[in-house]
Amino acid sequence: MPTKERTGYFVIQGLATSQDHYSTTPFQNYMKTALIALFTLCLLASRSSAQSYNTLWIPDTLSGKTFNLTIKDTLKQIIPGNQTITGGINSNFWGPTLFFTKGDTVRMNVLNKLNDSTTLHWHGMHLPAVMDGGPHQIIPPGTLWQPFWKVTNNAGLYWFHPHLHEKTEDQITKGIGGLIIVRDAVESALPLPRRYGIDDIPLVLTDRSFASSNQFSVVPYGDSMMTNGVLRAQYTVPAQVVRFRLLNAAIERSYNIGFSDGRTFYVITTDGGLLNAPVAVTRFLLSAGERVEILVNCTGQAGTTLDMKAYNSTLANAIPGGENFPGGPFANFLGKKDFNILRLTIGAQTSSPITAIPSSLTTNTFPSASSAALTRSLTLTDSTGVRSVTILGPNAFLINRRLFNIKFIDYQIPLNNTEIWELKSTSGFAHPFHIHDVQFYILTRNGAAAPNYEQGWKDVVLVKSNETVRFIAKFDDYADATHPFMYHCHISLHEDEGMMGQFVVTGTNTAVQDPSAPRPAEFSLMPNPTNDKLYINLPDATTEVYYVTVTNVNGRPLLMLPQPDLQSGIDVSSFAPGVYFVQLMDKRTKSVSIRKFIKQ
Ligand code: C2O
Ligand code: CU
Ligand code: CU
Repeated sequence: MPTKERTGYFVIQGLATSQDHYSTTPFQNYMKTALIALFTLCLLASRSSAQSYNTLWIPDTLSGKTFNLTIKDTLKQIIPGNQTITGGINSNFWGPTLFFTKGDTVRMNVLNKLNDSTTLHWHGMHLPAVMDGGPHQIIPPGTLWQPFWKVTNNAGLYWFHPHLHEKTEDQITKGIGGLIIVRDAVESALPLPRRYGIDDIPLVLTDRSFASSNQFSVVPYGDSMMTNGVLRAQYTVPAQVVRFRLLNAAIERSYNIGFSDGRTFYVITTDGGLLNAPVAVTRFLLSAGERVEILVNCTGQAGTTLDMKAYNSTLANAIPGGENFPGGPFANFLGKKDFNILRLTIGAQTSSPITAIPSSLTTNTFPSASSAALTRSLTLTDSTGVRSVTILGPNAFLINRRLFNIKFIDYQIPLNNTEIWELKSTSGFAHPFHIHDVQFYILTRNGAAAPNYEQGWKDVVLVKSNETVRFIAKFDDYADATHPFMYHCHISLHEDEGMMGQFVVTGTNTAVQDPSAPRPAEFSLMPNPTNDKLYINLPDATTEVYYVTVTNVNGRPLLMLPQPDLQSGIDVSSFAPGVYFVQLMDKRTKSVSIRKFIKQ
C-alpha cells in the first residue's frame, strides 16, 4: 500500500537526520544504517497491524446566521516526531463546516491571526464581488473582515479558502479552508441521508509531501494522501445508503474515485446542487476545486470492509495526477498510481435508515443557448514564451495568451447578461477552469453533450488537452464597477503563476467615478468618545456607503466592513482605549473621507 510505505520513508528520514550530530567512521555509519533499517522494519511491521489506519476526522460544524472564523498559524501532530506547522480556521488544520439555509442572510466575522495577509473566498457562492474574498479583498494581519450576503445558492457542497494572489498555493498547503453545506426546501424534502458524520460524510481530499522535520513542502503534488487532514484514514459507516460529500482541495491532483469491490455508486450533485436524477457510475474524476456528492448503498453489508480509492493509474498523462515524473518539482509518489482515500468498515444500521437510491431528485432549468446575448471565446494555452513567477518558468499556462494582471479588467459584463463562454484549449495539459459569481451549465464538450453526471450546475470544469468546452451562465443580481470577480485555473500553482483573469459586472446604477469631481461624503461619528458602539451619521440621506474601514493611528486596518449596515452601529467594544480613524467610501464616487474617534 503506497501511503504506508511512504510513512516508513519518513521514519527512515527522521532517524537518519538524528545521526548527523555525531562524527562517525564509515564502518560505524554502515552499522548505524543497518540498525536503523532493522529498527524501521520492526516499526513498519507493528504499524501495519495495529497502526495501519487512523480514524477519519470529521470537521466541527457551525450553523445559524453569524459565523466567527479565526484564521491562524498552528501546529498539528500528523506524523511521529515534530509537529507540522499548519494553518487552520478555529482548528489546527482546515476549519469548521458551515451550514447555511438558502434564503438566510449570513454574516461572517473573519479574523486574520496569521502573520501574513490573506483573503477568504466563498467558492461557489453567488454574492457581491466586494464580499467574494478574491485577491482584491485582502485582510491584513490582525484585521476583522465582516462580509455578509443572502444565500441564494441551491443546496449542495461549497467551500472557502484563501485566494491571495501568488500565495494561494502556500496558504492552501498549510491547510486553511473549510466546507459549506447549503440546505434548502427541495433537498430537505428528499429521502437522502443527511446525518452529518453518520450517514452523510464530508471528505476533503488533498495530498501533501513532508520535508525534513515533518514540515509540509509547498509542491504541486504530495506524496501522501490526506483525507480530512488524516493519513491512512478509516471510518465506520452504517449498513444503509451512505452519502459522501467530496471536495477536491488538492493543489493540482485529480482523483479518479472508485471502490475496491468495483461497485456502482450514484452521483447526486454537481458543484452547484442536485442533478435531476442520480447517475450510476463506477468511476468519477474529481478535479481541483470540484465537489461531488455520491450515494453508496451499504445495506445488508454489516461486518464487511472496502476501500474508496483513487484509480489514477488509468488516467491519461495529460490529466493532473496521471503523469509520472521521475524527478523535478512534479515528481511524486502517487503519480499515475492507484491509492487509498478511505478504508470503510461497514457497521450496524442506524434507526430510520435510508436503504434505497431515489429515482429522481429535482428539476433544474438551465438557460437555453438561444437566450445568450453573446459568446466569449477564451483560449487556454501553454506558454507563448511568457515568463512566469517561479516553478513553471517560461512554461506558464495562460488564458487568452496573457499573464494575470490585477490592474487589468478582462471583461465588462452587463448586469443580467446571459453569456456563452467557449473555452478553447490548445494546452498539452488539462486545466480545471473555475469562475466566480455564477454557476454555469455545460452546453458541449468538443461539440457533444456533456456526460449525464455533468448535466447540472457547475463552477469548475476540467478542460482537457485540446478540448473545447462551452458553458452558459447568467450574470445577475450584483453589479459593481470597483471589485471584479475572477476566473482561473483551479490548480493553485497555475493560478498563482498567472493563469487567471477578471471581470466586472456593470449595471446602470454603478456609475463610474468622475475623477474631476470627487464628492467626499460628509459624515460624523456618534458618540465620540465611545465605549462600545459607534454610529455613522450621514447628513446627505442619498449617500450610500460602499466600504468602511476602521484603522489605528498608524493606518493599520482593524475592521473591514463592506457595505455595512449603519443602523446597528460599529462594534468597537474590543478596542483598546485610544485614537482611531474611520475611513468611509462613498458608493457613487468611490472617494474616501476620514474621521477620528476616541475609544474610552
Ligand atoms: Cu476556489 Cu477563485 O477559487
Ligand atoms: Cu471561487
Ligand atoms: Cu491549469
